[in-house]
Amino acid sequence: MTDRPKDRVLIFDTTLRDGEQSPGATMTHAEKLEIAELLDDMGVDIIEAGFPVASEGDFRAVKEIAERSKQAVICGLARANPTDIDRCWEAVKHAERPRIHTFIGTSPLHRAIPNLDKDQMAERIEQTVTHARNLCDNVQWSPMDATRTEWDYLCRVVEIAIKAGATTINIPDTVGYTAPNESADLIRRLIATVPGADEIVFATHCHNDLGMATANSLAAVEGGARQIECTINGLGERAGNTALEEVVMALRTRGDILPYETGIDTRKIMHISRRVATVSGFPVQFNKAIVGKNAFAHESGIHQDGMLKNAETFEIMRPEDVGLAATNLVMGKHSGRAALRAKLKDLGVEVGDNQLKDLFVRFKELADRKKEVYDEDILALVTATTTDGMADRLQLLNLSVTCGTGGPARAEIEMEIDGAEHSATCEGDGPVDASFKAVRALHETNAHLQLYQVHAVTEGTDAQATVSVRLEEDGMIATGQSADTDTVVASARAYINALNRLLVRREKTGPGADAREISYKDVG
Ligand code: KIV
Ligand code: ZN
Repeated sequence: MTDRPKDRVLIFDTTLRDGEQSPGATMTHAEKLEIAELLDDMGVDIIEAGFPVASEGDFRAVKEIAERSKQAVICGLARANPTDIDRCWEAVKHAERPRIHTFIGTSPLHRAIPNLDKDQMAERIEQTVTHARNLCDNVQWSPMDATRTEWDYLCRVVEIAIKAGATTINIPDTVGYTAPNESADLIRRLIATVPGADEIVFATHCHNDLGMATANSLAAVEGGARQIECTINGLGERAGNTALEEVVMALRTRGDILPYETGIDTRKIMHISRRVATVSGFPVQFNKAIVGKNAFAHESGIHQDGMLKNAETFEIMRPEDVGLAATNLVMGKHSGRAALRAKLKDLGVEVGDNQLKDLFVRFKELADRKKEVYDEDILALVTATTTDGMADRLQLLNLSVTCGTGGPARAEIEMEIDGAEHSATCEGDGPVDASFKAVRALHETNAHLQLYQVHAVTEGTDAQATVSVRLEEDGMIATGQSADTDTVVASARAYINALNRLLVRREKTGPGADAREISYKDVG
């Protein structure tokens, strides 16, 4: 137990950059703006909004997030060259508080990519950090793969970056290789060794390949880091990044041994977690810490008995602290529009009058088929009725499928396409395959299926199935989602939803325009 005053730890969220770069997690422009606004509202200190040089779409997103920002510092990523840095500045300069984040891989393996020797790389770092600092007085520099960089060389380049004007030095564990003791030690030794280190902020950026990202980030804080880089739901390449909700709740719950505080309004965690899961198409695993469906569920008899007597018996955090409603009021077919609006507000979902109208119709249909409609059911309906703000060109009117043990499944479909009704019948290997083929018989497409995923929203055989479908066409990726008590109908709707999103993107950007042109790993 300690009475030390709490030190402030800055939360740097990179859901829209490192998270969004994870294959398949691509978000639309509107979705990026929405997530940035939620991050700003929840008290994130720095939002890494994207990698402006990567594509026209990334640039537009970072620029617009910068223009709309309220409290947060808006940061963009740039490789160690003037073109990247200038492009980054063009996008972030519109923010009230802009930051340029420039980086280069410093470990032996990463130095080999641009084929620079140690001296040449040191010179490049000096030049590029100086260039960034001449544009912006808030510059972050990262030696990528720091945890596998030789100690002497790491000290040398960190010192160069500080002298050139970096105000934050980020120490990335790019491949999730370090362990907690080593993570704390590395930051502690850098602060003790590098001249000027006490003038700037050290950040930690951990990947989760060995499942240690949260532990490594917290250890780095104990070693002296005062900025944690993280993503919502731990979204990110491979095993992901440090999860924002985990580090924030760990610091809050264990303030007795971790005397640090953040500026995060933790009651906003659940809502943003659900939105990121939805727009990225990466669902949260049921037993995920803090935001998993089961994180606050107490099913065993002993647990339930203990919980009823005293919630603290098995609960170290209160559900309401992370934004879960304390009571899960069940809605049914007698619930009216006002009750639905109140429930949505409770769940942190804001909808306009028109969306509420559509939602209410879907809610009534569902309540007719399902005795009890839970929060998860309602959230699934919200996801299924959310569009990109454009009218759907493809709409499902009717679907009937016959299948059995003895032969192929047969789907008869009726769709409205650009206002005209069409129908088709197709056979397939099971009901979902037959339905997708029937959709394709009416709407020709080269899109290929990257992911098809089904989840039961609640328990019971009348549970709604939520289906995610991810499609790729000419480098453009779109994720469609839907929910229905009939899994095949939900699948067809999710497929059509993804096709509609591809159509919207193609209309907005032209073929290939949103495809990522440059990866941040092609260090130029
Ligand atoms: O993991 C990493 O090294 C990165 C850098 C670009 C900071 O994401
Ligand atoms: Zn990273």
